[in-house]
Amino acid sequence: MLNRKARSLNSWNHFKRKWLMHRRKFIQTSCAACLSLTALAGALSSCQTTKYVSGKLGTDGLFINTDEFKKAGKRKDSYRSFIVVRNEALQYPVCVYRLSDAEYTALWMSCTHQGAELQASGDFLQCPAHGSEFSNKGKMTNGPADRDLRTFPVTVNKNELFIDLRRV
Ligand code: FES
Repeated sequence: MLNRKARSLNSWNHFKRKWLMHRRKFIQTSCAACLSLTALAGALSSCQTTKYVSGKLGTDGLFINTDEFKKAGKRKDSYRSFIVVRNEALQYPVCVYRLSDAEYTALWMSCTHQGAELQASGDFLQCPAHGSEFSNKGKMTNGPADRDLRTFPVTVNKNELFIDLRRV
């Protein structure tokens, strides 16, 4: 039979063991959660969100301000590699890539295989229907499509781009 002091000590030890087990479990769970959050933050920062603009439709094409490529809140010379022009007057969007200050490409986002709308992802466009891929210059890099994308001439005038859509 244990005396009162021994029982109290026994109960304290039991409490300490339980507390240590909870603490260990808490640390393991917290570390797993931290690692997951860190991985998620890394994944999110590596994927660029797509910027959509409507542009200004003229008689022969679209006008876009080059400032649309500037990344908000970033350094002065930080630019997006592409933007997507969605205009209700157009059947498909136009993906505009900024290759340099003076060089841009404008690509019709219609797959040359069966006409599905393409998705821009970094420096290439991909077809969600059957997986064809195209470069940021419209070259077909992966089938089943067997033709390059339709492209449009782009003229740079100070801080304005003109995309000539007369061949749409
Ligand atoms: S429609 Fe694009 S790969 Fe088939």
